[in-house]
Amino acid sequence: MRLAVLAAVAWSVGIGAAAAQVPDAALLAGACQGCHGATGEGGHGIPSIRQMQTQAEFVATMRAFRANERPNTVMGRIARGYTDAEIAALAQHFAKPQP
Ligand code: HEC
Repeated sequence: MRLAVLAAVAWSVGIGAAAAQVPDAALLAGACQGCHGATGEGGHGIPSIRQMQTQAEFVATMRAFRANERPNTVMGRIARGYTDAEIAALAQHFAKPQP
């Protein structure tokens, strides 16, 4: 009985960890839309990120912000909050499909 409970706990923890590794792009994008607009269209001095760059360029831009290698006011701090997997998901959400 105790073993069965342990197995169930281990199983559910395993499932939770697996789910956490697949970033939810729509959820992540919510953190960008307040500034960049619902579809990333930008405005009011905020650049558009809607299909402006290829996914590879978008990833490179976000990594450069994260490393503070690209001039910015807020994006350096914001980009530091995201893993490579999350940036890739955001690129799929906002950027142009790969040619
Ligand atoms: C507080 C407002 C704000 C939020 C939130 C925000 N951005 Fe930005 N973003 C900016 C500003 C302002 C710039 C221009 C660079 C700078 O000054 O930091 C920018 C620039 C960018 C650029 C470069 C655009 C270009 O062509 O140069 C990308 C890509 C980008 N943001 C992606 C994102 C993503 C992805 C998120 C969500 C994780 C996000 N931003 C959240 C304000 C914001």
